[in-house]
Amino acid sequence: MNYKIALIPGDGIGPEIVAEAKKVLDQVCRVYGHSFSYEEVLLGGASIDVHGVPLTDEAVETAKASDAVLMGSIGGDAKTSPWYQLEPSKRPEAGLLAIRKALNLFANLRPAYLYDELKGACPLKEEVIGDGFDMIIVRELTGGLYFGERKTVVENGVTTAVDTLTYNENEIRRIAVKAFDIAMKRNKKVTSVDKANVLDSSRLWRKVVEEVAKDYPEVALEHMLVDNCAMQLVHDPGQFDVILTENMFGDILSDEASMVTGSIGMLSSASLNETKFGLYEPSHGSAPDIAGKGIANPLATILSAAMMLRYSLDLDKEADAVEAAVQKVLTEGYRTVDIMADGMKQVGTKEMGDLIAERI
Ligand code: IPM
Ligand code: MG
Repeated sequence: MNYKIALIPGDGIGPEIVAEAKKVLDQVCRVYGHSFSYEEVLLGGASIDVHGVPLTDEAVETAKASDAVLMGSIGGDAKTSPWYQLEPSKRPEAGLLAIRKALNLFANLRPAYLYDELKGACPLKEEVIGDGFDMIIVRELTGGLYFGERKTVVENGVTTAVDTLTYNENEIRRIAVKAFDIAMKRNKKVTSVDKANVLDSSRLWRKVVEEVAKDYPEVALEHMLVDNCAMQLVHDPGQFDVILTENMFGDILSDEASMVTGSIGMLSSASLNETKFGLYEPSHGSAPDIAGKGIANPLATILSAAMMLRYSLDLDKEADAVEAAVQKVLTEGYRTVDIMADGMKQVGTKEMGDLIAERI
């Protein structure tokens, strides 16, 4: 089959890790007889440098005209990069939020899975890790504090900043439906995370999630306050199957969840709209401190490419092959520096990409 993929290398380590994911996809094409055509799209700092803005209409159009979007990471060092001299709405992160909104990517799926081989890299004690864990965070991505009205005003010499957390019931319902659908294909448990003891938006969240749950009698639903969830993730991560939560809580909890898998360099993600279309990116950032050094871990991006094969292109067998190749390379003892351990073989970004591609 022929597919059109929009590629967003982005900033920092983005171009390096996207190159490795593309290498793996090219191998998938060779082995399974597909052909992918790639169109590069500028986003974030890379777009600011060329166009003066972090996202252009043309970039959105190219993304829309593709079957799926594969992205690296965006952003730079906030202290030293000139991008952060610009007003907030023109900075790299604003481009990422704008493309999520423009493509209506309301459902962000972030699987956090502990490979047996990486148990040593997990910062938790053995008795906490137990049999390991396998959860997926379903984060609402186009609402809440990220997209509510914001302003900074000075009144009587005092500066006040306002951000607004808004959700309507439709926005909550559609992400809840996604989470329950995913739970049906997994262990049939949804933990909906909110702050219903304080926030109105969370009380509405809980009510709507309970309504949706009625259509899924086989799925066990529990509610958990976000502060407790942050604690439970390091106390007993094995209890989770699907975590359903709003945008900001999901941002924070997914970084935490990724760290307990051993490295944020392992965590893939998919951002989907109502159709099969999606944008796939690692959950980690652009790591400007290690950009260009050839040491970044490309596995989260390669695993994001596997999610793209599965969710947007319906190429399940091919996605399985990529995931199996990652598993195999870890079993064989190859590690990038972020997951390096005694007795393992340390490799760089390109070498890791080669090792995965060779095993497809
Ligand atoms: C993420 C990132 C983004 C977010 C930033 C870069 C705007 O942290 O994808 O988790 O907060 O959503
Ligand atoms: Mg984040």
